[in-house]
Amino acid sequence: MAFTDTVGEIFYGGDYNPDQWSEEIWQEDMRLMKAAGVNMVSIGMWAWAHIQPKEDVWNWTFMDKIMNMFAEHGIYVDLATPTAAQPNWLSKKYPEILPVMADGMRMSYGSRQTFCPTSEKLLGFNAEITRRIVERYKDHPTLAAWHIGNEYSHLVILCHCESCESIFRTWLKAKYKNLDGVNEAWGTVFWSNTYGEWDEIISPKITAHQNNPCHLLDYKRFTSDAYLASFQNEADICREITPDIPITTNYLYEFNNLDYFKWSQQIDFVAVSSFPDTKPGEHIGKPPFSHAKMRGLKRGEPFVILEQAANNVNWRDANNNKKPGIMRLWSYQGLAHGSDGLCFFQWRASLKGAEKFHSAMLPHAGADTRIHKEIKQLGAELPKIKEIIGSRVHSKIAILFDYESWWALDNKPGTTTFLEYNNQVQKFFLALHEMNIPCDIVFATDPELSFKDYDILIAPAMYIIQPGVANKIKAFVKKGGSFLTNFSSGMVDETEAVFEGGYPGPLRDLLGFWVEEFESILEGVDNSVKLSNKLGGKKESYPATIWADILRLETAKSIGKWTKDFYKGKTCLTENKFGKGKAYYIGTDLGVEFNKTILAKLCKDHKIKPLLKTPKNVEAAVRTKGKKEWLFVMNHNFKATKVTLPKAGLIDIITGKKMSKIITLKALDTVILKEKIKKTKKK
Ligand code: GAL
Repeated sequence: MAFTDTVGEIFYGGDYNPDQWSEEIWQEDMRLMKAAGVNMVSIGMWAWAHIQPKEDVWNWTFMDKIMNMFAEHGIYVDLATPTAAQPNWLSKKYPEILPVMADGMRMSYGSRQTFCPTSEKLLGFNAEITRRIVERYKDHPTLAAWHIGNEYSHLVILCHCESCESIFRTWLKAKYKNLDGVNEAWGTVFWSNTYGEWDEIISPKITAHQNNPCHLLDYKRFTSDAYLASFQNEADICREITPDIPITTNYLYEFNNLDYFKWSQQIDFVAVSSFPDTKPGEHIGKPPFSHAKMRGLKRGEPFVILEQAANNVNWRDANNNKKPGIMRLWSYQGLAHGSDGLCFFQWRASLKGAEKFHSAMLPHAGADTRIHKEIKQLGAELPKIKEIIGSRVHSKIAILFDYESWWALDNKPGTTTFLEYNNQVQKFFLALHEMNIPCDIVFATDPELSFKDYDILIAPAMYIIQPGVANKIKAFVKKGGSFLTNFSSGMVDETEAVFEGGYPGPLRDLLGFWVEEFESILEGVDNSVKLSNKLGGKKESYPATIWADILRLETAKSIGKWTKDFYKGKTCLTENKFGKGKAYYIGTDLGVEFNKTILAKLCKDHKIKPLLKTPKNVEAAVRTKGKKEWLFVMNHNFKATKVTLPKAGLIDIITGKKMSKIITLKALDTVILKEKIKKTKKK
């Protein structure tokens, strides 16, 4: 059963906080939601104090009423467990549930998401309220999904309390069996950090100098697992009582505190809060990079944008608006890259509280506003395109992504602070995106990791080589695949121990060289790499930033050399034949432009073509289901733009109009094209 089955439509709606409003407003909201095409709302995530105002007092009146009201109006509910914000009475009575920061100070209550993920006391309360909610609404006709908590770990990245430390020790015992195992893995002989008793092990708090890297990495792994266990504490109850109701929680846009791949194997569908930067000039491919991750988390299944902003947010330093047409365009962009739902934070803009200046589907000024009219327009269009539900994005190229390499590089292992993992990965995705070539994201810790659907595999900044992954990559290349990786890859194993004999460690035979030295390219230092042939591009040399590798070639061929410094003339770029395929390496950051050049060459080798050749800032994406195919063409330009389609006669399913071969897409407009279905004449 697909998660969209109950609703039967592209999810459209938003977070709704009825406890902030009177019953008259609820009635008005029902009417306005229906008029705007809303079919699903997420409710309850901030309602704990309303439902359980005191430890032994339960109040279901408002929840019962609002659930029934939604049922009467044919609007489905994604019902949240309210455990992302425990009531004040709970924090006051049991202060041990509050998290402790790296400086040892306990946080105070008074906002939200301020809890320790391992507090037994809190987990008990969470389980109780979850069970009561699930029992109460399990057969409610309007229930479409369970929404557990909210954006786990968003606001408390790591908790350092005694409960976490004690559970961390248990986690370590399960992983390393004994203290020798921990000491060995962490390399605690360094700086005299050897542990002689289990209770000497604490969380990586603020200390005079750098923390042990593997201690930090394990604490991140542990924290991701601890939050997951607190999610499962509630999800298990939902699954036990309502096995057929899908379970989700909302992830954060470009967030890395949790191993979302591991998490996603425990949820029924991936949902994300998608708030891309609205700064002018932001790359149009950034949201698709996040979308590609979201669909990769459940190996290609559609996901849901469960929160986006109708207009401005309230939490950036300065919050600009989504210009007219942007909200609709970015919504279609989300669908184009694999989302089956478009929901917002939130339905009605709050009048009080910290988020009162965050935009909403229904702004403070009411329904007669630009924002609400755009919401209504989108709500009226979505039912026309619901045939895309369940379709998928297909690609012959994958990026290998690793949350643990991201964590380890975030801990700044002593290479360069200019190296940002996600940025590096994004630069390859953006290069493909600019060429309208789709790219999947696969995850290095996936036990079922396979590259069989792909011709090209890219592994940027793959600092940690996860167990078993090098052999899988080699098998892929041997069979004819192309592999591309870059600097800072293959440096350490999963305990962050450096590979001896020169990086790229276990990839050395595949890549055909070893790294003799590397250095950070400091700001203001000018160096570049000259290509031995232009790789099919226009430029002969590209400026280098961030990092410089000095390579010693074995079987690899040099395809680019340094132009300056003491390593002038030494190799930075390589190509190495391996079995039937080839492996490429870039020993620096040459920017998106160069990444485009090398990826265009690899695509040519594998006969991978762009989905559509489009003018600048016009994006093409395809979703497919069986033999059906939908081509999304999205104009991100603030002016009308001419686009040449593959052929004349395609139908835009938003308007039902037949397209000529050359079309003029209005500023910020989208078409979703499919073949005209021939009608068979009735005899
Ligand atoms: C999300 C969160 C919402 C709201 C929103 C504002 O991250 O889940 O509750 O705070 O951000 O953008």
